[in-house]
Amino acid sequence: MRPIANLFFLTGAIFALCGMVWGIQMSASHDHSLSPAHGHLNLIGFVSMSVFGAYYALSPGAAQSMLARVHYALVTASVLVLVPGIVLAIQGQTEVMAKIGSVLAVASMALFVLIVLRNRAGQTVTSSAQPAE
Ligand code: HEM
Repeated sequence: MRPIANLFFLTGAIFALCGMVWGIQMSASHDHSLSPAHGHLNLIGFVSMSVFGAYYALSPGAAQSMLARVHYALVTASVLVLVPGIVLAIQGQTEVMAKIGSVLAVASMALFVLIVLRNRAGQTVTSSAQPAE
């Protein structure tokens, strides 16, 4: 199974790639009406995902927990629901998806708070390891 930090970085990079292509499309078409959706794709999808990936790379104990995988699934789902939800809300079609995506995003951050509280960044998995002299 791919390490969780790697999954966060890979997914974040894919979201960034999509967000940048979307940004170029917005610039080329001179239609910036969907820029809030583009902003959320880049900021939750890339920036937040990368910060989470860095945290798990620094915290092997947290990275090996099942909660980290639940966290990854929640953040990914929040981006995949929230971003199209913002598009639909801007287009005046429905706000339901944006609301569900927002709840998923908040839940994923609340879970991250819990994970950070339960683990120390830099904490090794083997507690018996002695520091090098
Ligand atoms: C190829 C790369 C990118 C292009 C061409 C691009 C293009 C754009 C354009 C045209 C806008 C609308 C500006 C306006 O109407 O005032 C915009 C807004 C925005 N972009 Fe990007 N962008 C790119 C990458 C990124 C990245 C990497 C991030 C964040 C990490 C980002 C975050 C934002 C944010 C937060 C907004 C404002 C959203 C709003 O308040 O409506 N963009 N971008």
